[in-house]
Amino acid sequence: MTVIVAEPVISVHGNDFEIKNNEYEKEKEELDLKLDGGFVVPDSNAFGHSFRDYEKESERKDAVEQFYKTNHINQTYEFANKKKEDYGKLQKAVMSIWECCELLNEFVDESDPDLDEPQIEHLLQTAEAIRRDYPNEDWLHLTALIHDLGKVMLHPSFGEEPQWSTVGDTFPLGCAFNEAIVHPQYFKENPDYNNPKYNTKLGVYSENCGLDNVTMSWGHDEYMYLVAKANKTTLPHVGLFIIRFHSFYALHRSNAYTYLMNEEDDEGLKWLRVFNKYDLYSKSKVRVNQEDVKPYYISLIKKYFPEKLRW
Ligand SMILES: [Fe+2]
Ligand SMILES: [Fe+2]
Repeated sequence: MTVIVAEPVISVHGNDFEIKNNEYEKEKEELDLKLDGGFVVPDSNAFGHSFRDYEKESERKDAVEQFYKTNHINQTYEFANKKKEDYGKLQKAVMSIWECCELLNEFVDESDPDLDEPQIEHLLQTAEAIRRDYPNEDWLHLTALIHDLGKVMLHPSFGEEPQWSTVGDTFPLGCAFNEAIVHPQYFKENPDYNNPKYNTKLGVYSENCGLDNVTMSWGHDEYMYLVAKANKTTLPHVGLFIIRFHSFYALHRSNAYTYLMNEEDDEGLKWLRVFNKYDLYSKSKVRVNQEDVKPYYISLIKKYFPEKLRW
């Protein structure tokens, strides 16, 4: 099938915003041949604008830009590794997946120009849209349900992290910032920008070292990945890959940093691109009836996370 993209997608290159409609459509078509499950991309987000369009006038445009400025200045290699160490101890709470979904209901993601619904709506809309098109991939349904649960870091009992270190696009640290990252101009004020250890193409890494070995900017992707892995989920590796890199738009949208990938990452990236369509385009004002779908997701939670989780 063909993906419908009614408006051009704007991507960031240096300080200029360049319309990349043709390339984007070509890339999408190639993917659809192999991977598409039949999902039709809607024309616009809940505000009536095209998705992830940071230049369109929107009530939240200035807030989103300010958000990325703070994020880009403060996300350093050292900062992200400290957070990984701290949250990796899993000493914040003991809680089931569903309890965590309900806790997230209090928050709206400031970095997201497409959504002002409670988070649980987004989780269920994404999971249900995937379930319709990939009915046999139950691991992917659960991956969708839990992919954003790391946002509980915003909650006081989970450390009350600020938005800038919880949400938004993520990117590798310890090597040069790529121009494909949203609002790249703000990296000039990041201490790593002028550090010769971290500001070359490879920085602390070697070519094709594998994304497993890369320190990503700290956020909800990394936290949920740590939690799922440490609690010994039986989700497949690609599910964990999706959770860990779903906000890494520079990679899955712009093909930046592919020189850090190894062969195993290729498979993960294919599925991540499938998942991303649903993560991005299933955001709408159409509500999912939580009580109707809850028993199905509880059964998946039992299958892939038999115990309560340490967070
Ligand atoms: Fe997310
Ligand atoms: Fe999401």
